[in-house]
Amino acid sequence: MSNKIKFAIAGCGSIGSRHIAVTDAEERAEIVALCDIDEQKVKALSETYGGIPYFTDYETMLASCDADVVNICTPHGLHAEMAIKAANAKKNILVEKPMALNVADCHRMIDAAQANGVKLMVVKQNRYNVPIALTKQALDSGFLGQIFMVQCNVLWNRHQGYYKDSNWRGSKKLEGGALHTQVSHFIDLLVWWFGDLKEAKTHLETKNHDIEIEDCGQSLVKFGSGVMGSIIWTTCVYNKNYEGSITVIGENGTIKIGGQYLNKIEFWDVKSYPLPEEIEFNDKPNAYGKYQGTSSNHDKVVHDVVAELLNERHNVVEGNEGMKTIEAIELIYSKS
Ligand SMILES: NC(=O)c1ccc[n+]([C@@H]2O[C@H](COP(=O)([O-])OP(=O)(O)OC[C@H]3O[C@@H](n4cnc5c(N)ncnc54)[C@H](O)[C@@H]3O)[C@@H](O)[C@H]2O)c1
Repeated sequence: MSNKIKFAIAGCGSIGSRHIAVTDAEERAEIVALCDIDEQKVKALSETYGGIPYFTDYETMLASCDADVVNICTPHGLHAEMAIKAANAKKNILVEKPMALNVADCHRMIDAAQANGVKLMVVKQNRYNVPIALTKQALDSGFLGQIFMVQCNVLWNRHQGYYKDSNWRGSKKLEGGALHTQVSHFIDLLVWWFGDLKEAKTHLETKNHDIEIEDCGQSLVKFGSGVMGSIIWTTCVYNKNYEGSITVIGENGTIKIGGQYLNKIEFWDVKSYPLPEEIEFNDKPNAYGKYQGTSSNHDKVVHDVVAELLNERHNVVEGNEGMKTIEAIELIYSKS
């Protein structure tokens, strides 16, 4: 492998464009191919970035380019097959969240990566958010004592056009559910902090969109560590995102991470561990015109993928860990 890691980006939509921008800006990365079934879109992006070779057929791209890693930024229902094809073409993989729509597909992806000796990495950019890193430190240090409960709210707006103008959003087969899209970031953090999800009691409804999946959901959950909690999610909030928050209730402290996308500390009261002063809360959202997603720390993800593939440090989320989010999502839906 040369000192520049070669990336190919498959799926050049909302987040694919962000992958292209941050990879282009990464000193030790080079984009060698773009792929999208929408030729106009991929051609325009190729031109914007100086004529990167582009393809409208994924398998042709895999066979023709010498990428070290393929970023999969396509609808959820395509992640597993595209990752397996990339692995069989001996490419490392960076797959967008959710890793796949079900646990069986995650296993197939992991097996394919292992069989071909390549790395399977999953985008979890919220782990880099300043409030998340601070909370992780507080949890790891033990200052919070025993953790009793956690409350997670994902109270967001997705306007009608978000689903109507897309050929995959709102579809069970291609999107899965709102847990796969909006909530998987939050579930990743909960499982990372409190262990695998063991129990769930769930209620789902579709109240305000013409879609096959839920737009309102609630689940009472219990994690392997014994922490009990609730997750409430909706895409029905009027006009704009209201809140994306996680509140941790511990024996010796309470932390509420909030803002619209886990970008603020709303409350911090931890025994012997005051909130460090002069912290800059500088996480920005991924903004897509009429709606906003979670944090835009994709530059840090790509930076760590480069470091991983150059054997400098290990700070990426690999398939086995990414799969835990899908296990939790599968359990939550199975208990509705
Ligand atoms: N990490 C994050 O914060 C974040 C944010 C947004 C989206 N995402 C994830 O990124 C993925 C894409 O979401 P999006 O919002 O960019 O969707 P999008 O609809 O804007 O883009 C998807 C693109 O994939 C292309 N595509 C579809 N089938 C293809 C195929 N067979 N080969 C090549 N290209 C194909 C489409 O033409 C489209 O351009 C999803 O998994 C989504 O959950 C992650």
